Amino acid sequence: ASTPLTVIKGDGIGPDIVDAALKVIDALDVDFDYDYVEVGQAALDAGETDPLPQQAIDSIERTGLVLKGPVTTPVGQGYRSVNVAMRKHFDLYANVRPTLSLPGTKSRYDNLDIITVRENTGGMYSGQGQTVSEDGNRAEALSVITRSESEHILRFAFEMARARGRKKVTLAHKANIMKSTSGLFLKVGREIAEEYDDLEYEEVIVDACAMKLVMAPEKFDVIVTTNLFGDIISDLCAGLIGGLGLAPGANIGDDCAMFEAVHGSAPDIAGQNIANPTSVILATALMLDHLDLDDQAERIRQAVRGAMADGDRTTPDIGGEGSTQGFADAIIERL
Ligand code: NAI
Ligand code: MG
Repeated sequence: ASTPLTVIKGDGIGPDIVDAALKVIDALDVDFDYDYVEVGQAALDAGETDPLPQQAIDSIERTGLVLKGPVTTPVGQGYRSVNVAMRKHFDLYANVRPTLSLPGTKSRYDNLDIITVRENTGGMYSGQGQTVSEDGNRAEALSVITRSESEHILRFAFEMARARGRKKVTLAHKANIMKSTSGLFLKVGREIAEEYDDLEYEEVIVDACAMKLVMAPEKFDVIVTTNLFGDIISDLCAGLIGGLGLAPGANIGDDCAMFEAVHGSAPDIAGQNIANPTSVILATALMLDHLDLDDQAERIRQAVRGAMADGDRTTPDIGGEGSTQGFADAIIERL
């Protein structure tokens, strides 16, 4: 039987890179039944009044599995982030972002294998209490962290680390300044770490973590942190291996999982057929891992590595002269 999959092509470079990823899937022996839906600007352009239309919600509720392109979020005024709304609606509490060195990049490092596990629904991104005073001179937002959210994500990170045979979990926090919120996260982290004495556990203050990641990234293994810090740290990690065009991410909940690139819709290069499709193609590999189709996932990763090492058709973001479609074809030929 074929596996139902909701596909959101997204905005900007989204449709091109998602089409590339679908071609890769179609070249494997896996059978998906695609249900295409639109959200964000694409949905509004198609005449919807809500950037997260009911039809999209219904589809995701039915399939529980999403392959998603980046969705543009208006800055300042305008609707709330559809990405944040979807993560919240489907309780996709864990954002898992692997940083794995690939051949053929301009990165200074060739030996990195870091997984950032980011709390994905709360903290500074919970969207609560956002107000600006009438005169526009004072702004507020509420950061909310609960014990249960913290337990959920921390346990997820330790379980994942154990299941994948990892050695160390680093908790990144700012409990020295944000004593209540980050303090609670750290307290729960210490409690949970005690249950996993087979894993090394360390704590690091997030700004020092950023510095250490740049100076000695090979010392990191699994990093677990809150929403805002995880957003920033995981982009930093993407930079360490050659950029956002190479960084996939998984949003995991108990009943639903959504796979996407770490990056956004890249309006600066949209419509030029030069966006790197690798991040969303590697996100499809994460999706296959999630479905226990490990061999197929590994085939994709091998084909990506091969095409990167070959270097003939890589895209400009990593120093090549190739196109989105051309690099996807280079991967497909190796499958
Ligand atoms: P961005 O990630 O779209 O772009 C940052 C820089 O990286 C740009 O120079 C871009 O050209 C480059 N880049 C990103 N992906 C690339 C790729 N595949 N190949 C080659 N170069 C690539 O971040 P930006 O510009 O801050 O955000 C643009 C829009 O995307 C915003 O509306 C933002 O809200 C949205 N966004 C959506 C996300 C999602 O849907 N999950 C995640 C991050 C941002
Ligand atoms: Mg981000």
